[in-house]
Amino acid sequence: MTSGVAVRPRAGVDAISPYKAGEAVIPGRAAATKLSSNESPFGPGQAVLDAIAVAAGDARRYPDSAAMALRTAIADHFELDVGGIVCTNGSESLIDLIARTFAGPGDEILFPEHSFPMYPIVTRAAGAQVVEAPAPDLTADVDALLARITPRTKVIFIANPNNPTGTCIDKQKIAALLKAVPSHIVVGLDSAYGEYVDDPSYSDGFEFIAQGHRNVIVLKTFSKIYALAALRLGWGYAAPEVVELMMRVRPPFNVSSLAAAAGCAALAEPARIKEIVAHTRHWRERLMRILNDGGLHTTDSVCNFVVCRFNRRGSWQRADEILKSHGIIVRPLPALNALRITIGTTEENDLLVAALADVIADSQGSAFLESKKRSAPR
Ligand SMILES: Cc1ncc(COP(=O)(O)O)c(C=O)c1O
Repeated sequence: MTSGVAVRPRAGVDAISPYKAGEAVIPGRAAATKLSSNESPFGPGQAVLDAIAVAAGDARRYPDSAAMALRTAIADHFELDVGGIVCTNGSESLIDLIARTFAGPGDEILFPEHSFPMYPIVTRAAGAQVVEAPAPDLTADVDALLARITPRTKVIFIANPNNPTGTCIDKQKIAALLKAVPSHIVVGLDSAYGEYVDDPSYSDGFEFIAQGHRNVIVLKTFSKIYALAALRLGWGYAAPEVVELMMRVRPPFNVSSLAAAAGCAALAEPARIKEIVAHTRHWRERLMRILNDGGLHTTDSVCNFVVCRFNRRGSWQRADEILKSHGIIVRPLPALNALRITIGTTEENDLLVAALADVIADSQGSAFLESKKRSAPR
């Protein structure tokens, strides 16, 4: 029976543009090289696979709601206080948990423009207002953020380094921000890509909590360097009283026992992580050099991806088509007239390098044609 009454979402839901995941297939092609979601090019190690298999044997049981073994492993590995750790179903659900714990209708959540697209989604889902601060140079600007704080601001998110731009800000700037932000405003420092950074002036944020900033929450993920994206495992670190507030809102079984077991095993493989970092940095530099030498612009990415910017309208589409013709899927960033390209395995990167030669040749060809058009007599 139909009543004729249409259900309506709460205020704010209509304004949400659903998250668009990276593409995984090229229509008409059996296989593709997926460089669109900043995943690890290397699978989890054997010890992790073994730990998942053991945990799967006990899948009929609910997981430990406190995720104690995992939190203890994280605390030991990162030298943190176990009472300050909260684990979640991917760090995207920690972003959501922060929004829902600390903001609601009438409140504002602030972040730089061109930030991780989940920030506006969780803000609106919580019924709060999105406030974006300008990000000149595609990087967070402390003064611009401070200028947009109002009495309604409840949370500030800063992805450092930022996805999708790849850029980061140094710890002096974060320190300046924290000094100026009123202490009742939660500052979420999203360090999902922190392991890939090799800039000594970078901080993943734990030190600010150690210094006594009780409004800071550092967000971390097992989806990137730890190669566990499919298992959905993230975690955060904050003052215990801040964690206690989030624990009230957190679903009780939000981390599966398979994910928890995998996380513990992944932390026990530091040599593997070192290798992945070295591989990523090597290819990041090489890919950026190839693009720059070919006359294309890149952002100063410190992540496991590079961002190639084009200076003629719509040219990202042409480059995307060329890469797809080589079987390579990357992430379009239309607002930046750019493509975000995840660093893959050596074989995938070799394919990419060959395909980029065509992108570069095409862009130089069209630049040549454009300059001829401009100089042609009328
Ligand atoms: C900046 C940033 N934060 C958080 C996440 C969420 O990661 P996950 O939910 O897989 O832990 C991502 C994923 O791409 C990200 O780029």
